Amino acid sequence: VSNDLTAMIAGNELAAKLYHHLLTNTDQGKEALEYLLKRGFTRENIQDFSIGFAPDSWDTLTQFLQRRNVPLNFMEQIGLLSKREFDGKLFDRFRNRVMFPIWNKDGKIIGFGGRVLGNEQPKYLNSSESKLFNKSQILYGLHLARPDIRKKNEAVLFEGYVDVISAWKAGVRNGVATLGTAITNEQAKLIRRNAETVIVCYDSDNAGLKATYRAIQILEENNCFVKVAKLPEGYDPDEFIQKNGSEKFRVEVIGGSMTTMAFKMSYLRKGRNLQNEAERMQYIEDVLTEITTLSKSIERDHYIRQLAEEFSLSLDALKQELFRLHKLKN
Ligand code: GTP
Ligand code: MN
Ligand code: MN
Ligand code: MN
Ligand code: MN
Repeated sequence: VSNDLTAMIAGNELAAKLYHHLLTNTDQGKEALEYLLKRGFTRENIQDFSIGFAPDSWDTLTQFLQRRNVPLNFMEQIGLLSKREFDGKLFDRFRNRVMFPIWNKDGKIIGFGGRVLGNEQPKYLNSSESKLFNKSQILYGLHLARPDIRKKNEAVLFEGYVDVISAWKAGVRNGVATLGTAITNEQAKLIRRNAETVIVCYDSDNAGLKATYRAIQILEENNCFVKVAKLPEGYDPDEFIQKNGSEKFRVEVIGGSMTTMAFKMSYLRKGRNLQNEAERMQYIEDVLTEITTLSKSIERDHYIRQLAEEFSLSLDALKQELFRLHKLKN
């Protein structure tokens, strides 16, 4: 088994070298390089993250690997090559895409994410799931971010490759990404082995906010201390950095991280008109329900006081309601 994995990794490493060379040194990669530079990637980013380009060709990688005697059946298993139905001929699976190598925690390339240059779908194509590449266990960027994560005892969790790279450029070097929006228990455990605090910095759109809710739950179940970055609505981290610069990102978005309760309260407010009595009551009830989940009595006390103050309610009434909700739950 371990021999197969070694051969697969060697194939990935060779492919990454080819893709990186094509992006940085050839005419074929010119358009992709311009795309990346226009998006705000620096040449240093492209080096540090070994970014590459898979050309619009059916056999560039296939021939390259064949000439180097890489076992092509392995390359098909991990999804770098595909097999034509009618005659079994192998061809390049990634074509005309910017290639982001994905490393395991030891810094070995175990897969790729390939992005289209425009708006075609699917936007990203990943290496196939295999015994080498298991998306649910991978945190993109961990091998680079680990020293800073350990030093700070804190990690920042993003949705995408681009966010990790952009944040790195902005001086936030403890960032990792789940490949997509749903974090798994395995990924939470992997983070917790390196840091106690996790700042969730997912996209501030509907999908991202929902995923943040879920991530809080999974991370807390795995004994992480969770905070939520303060990203204005509608942005993803990369877009925020492009528009507002590195310092604002570090100071306001990461530095301004909220407690999970503050995040939940602002989430529960969305789309509600708190001037309306019924909606206000529903909001208060929802916040109290969240408060019942807090394990520390000083925290419960803090948020009950905050509610009492904001809505001019008596502490007694709120405590009674909290008690009722708590009993309902158990
Ligand atoms: P850019 O559009 O390049 O800025 O990427 P993004 O990171 O902002 O993308 P998005 O927020 O849509 O998605 C976050 C992450 O989800 C990406 O980095 C991918 O890992 C994953 N993802 C997004 N779209 C797709 C897709 O079409 N297919 C797959 N397999 N993964 C995707
Ligand atoms: Mn998307
Ligand atoms: Mn997103
Ligand atoms: Mn995004
Ligand atoms: Mn983006």
